[in-house]
Amino acid sequence: MKAVAVFPAGRQVRLIDHPEPVIASPTDVRLRMLEVGVCGTDREIVTFQYGTPPAGSPYLVIGHESLAEVVEVGAAVTRVKPGDLAVPMVRRPCADPTCVACRTGRQDFCTSGRFTERGISGAHGFMTEFVVDDERYMNLVPRTLRDVAVLTEPLTIAEKAIAQVWQVQQRLPWVTQPQPGVAPAHGLRAVVLGAGPVGLLGAMVLVNAGFTTTVYSRASGPHDKAGLVGMIGATYLAAEDHTLAQLAAAVGNIDLVYEATGASRVAFELMEVLGTNGVFVFTGVPGRKGPVELDTDLIMRNLVLKNQVVFGTVNAGRDAYERAIADLAAFVARWPGAVRRLITGRDPIADAPGVLVGAPAGIKSVITIA
Ligand code: BGC
Ligand code: ZN
Repeated sequence: MKAVAVFPAGRQVRLIDHPEPVIASPTDVRLRMLEVGVCGTDREIVTFQYGTPPAGSPYLVIGHESLAEVVEVGAAVTRVKPGDLAVPMVRRPCADPTCVACRTGRQDFCTSGRFTERGISGAHGFMTEFVVDDERYMNLVPRTLRDVAVLTEPLTIAEKAIAQVWQVQQRLPWVTQPQPGVAPAHGLRAVVLGAGPVGLLGAMVLVNAGFTTTVYSRASGPHDKAGLVGMIGATYLAAEDHTLAQLAAAVGNIDLVYEATGASRVAFELMEVLGTNGVFVFTGVPGRKGPVELDTDLIMRNLVLKNQVVFGTVNAGRDAYERAIADLAAFVARWPGAVRRLITGRDPIADAPGVLVGAPAGIKSVITIA
């Protein structure tokens, strides 16, 4: 069957013929892959800065953001049936008996570092015709989300982040007693750094939670990204025409920063204007470009004197997948057309190598397989 593979030794990315997988355990399901999204991680893998093939394989089948249809199930499968739509999770647990995270199904918090990630590290991914995997990694998707559910995995990043924000903010007694009929973040202000898919999906989560949300990104509008930000009731401010001080003055007390660019300098500069009791979440993974100068006294003073919390977050657990699927439905209902507009390109699998290595265009590129 067809698959898109990366060969690190020969520095190649190409369409290959890959053995078709078969059900091997009673809890396995066989999936026909429908769509696979392309993200920054994939672009790093195809430029050989990241990613590892499975042990013993000269290549890695790429692809981790996906939507599939169940075509066959093992004898002991109970949660899914042929015809169901499913989004498989990305990370698989390590084998270390002392890794309490993996042993409790929370491999997104793996402590040994020996997890695998399908399509990224140590396990083949989803940019192929068929995949076999255990039913425990499947997340069921309603048919009504067929055209947008490939965005589930990038949305899980924001879902895991905001769940942790609420856990952190349990430290504020009034946050634990939300008013009936009032959105949990009513009156709070969030800044999203970056207007890529992770940033825009994060902005949707934040607006939906009730945050007054500003997306800060490089280029002045009007363009697709600024248009989408407007559609969901958030404000777009361009770094080209607003300094961070102007951003802070426009927003007021910044209660939350959701960083989604991997641009470390602007992120740490933005930390200088984080507000009282504010939380700063990092989701981007920057390349190493060398040291930058920062006002660390100011940042540290603010962290202490303003009760700030800074944390990073990667990958996601099943709870975040379930919330992502529910939220996609909520976003489609609340902002008709907005979620679909995140997907700015759909190309067949034969063209995937070109899409992966070509210049990124639009917001989210999706490879269609079936
Ligand atoms: C994926 C995550 C993964 C991370 C690090 C991201 O692009 O969405 O699932 O954990 O890369 O490999
Ligand atoms: Zn990704």
